[in-house]
Amino acid sequence: MDTAKLNRRLFLKSSGTAAAAVGSVVIPIQPAHAAQPAGAAGATALPYPAKAIGKAAAMPVNQAVAFAYPDASSPCVAIRTGSEVQGGVGPNKDIVAYSAQCTHMGCPVVYEPTTRTFKCGCHFSIFDAEKAGQMVCGQATENLPMVRLRHDLATDTISAFGVDGLIYGRQANIL
Ligand code: FES
Repeated sequence: MDTAKLNRRLFLKSSGTAAAAVGSVVIPIQPAHAAQPAGAAGATALPYPAKAIGKAAAMPVNQAVAFAYPDASSPCVAIRTGSEVQGGVGPNKDIVAYSAQCTHMGCPVVYEPTTRTFKCGCHFSIFDAEKAGQMVCGQATENLPMVRLRHDLATDTISAFGVDGLIYGRQANIL
């Protein structure tokens, strides 16, 4: 075998190996929901405060418990529905919380225990408290922002630590 053929064969063999190696490179992709540490370069997570809302056992069933989050100018409502619901926390996964401002034009929404919905008296939008604040009907086009909650087993405390969805009238939930 002459040298030119041998070099050509070696070249093709080595480039094929390199191509195969390139084809098998695994690129790690960070899941969309992965939290970034606050302050990290390029971080998009807002520095939400943690705020205790109350003891899970002390929360009345199917009644609105008012609180403000993430600051005093953002009214919110927590509901203990009495049965497991989407996004619910606590021993029975039945505690959820939402912004109490309608996503249409910011009017206050009121919890209606019989239908387990939030109703806005301004233009009659309705949001489902048992389905992550889903917009049921009305002028609003966005779901009610849902407050992220966690339950501390040791102390039975329910705390807020974030908001999913943009609070009405804000460019960012943290002012
Ligand atoms: S402000 Fe609530 S429907 Fe318009």
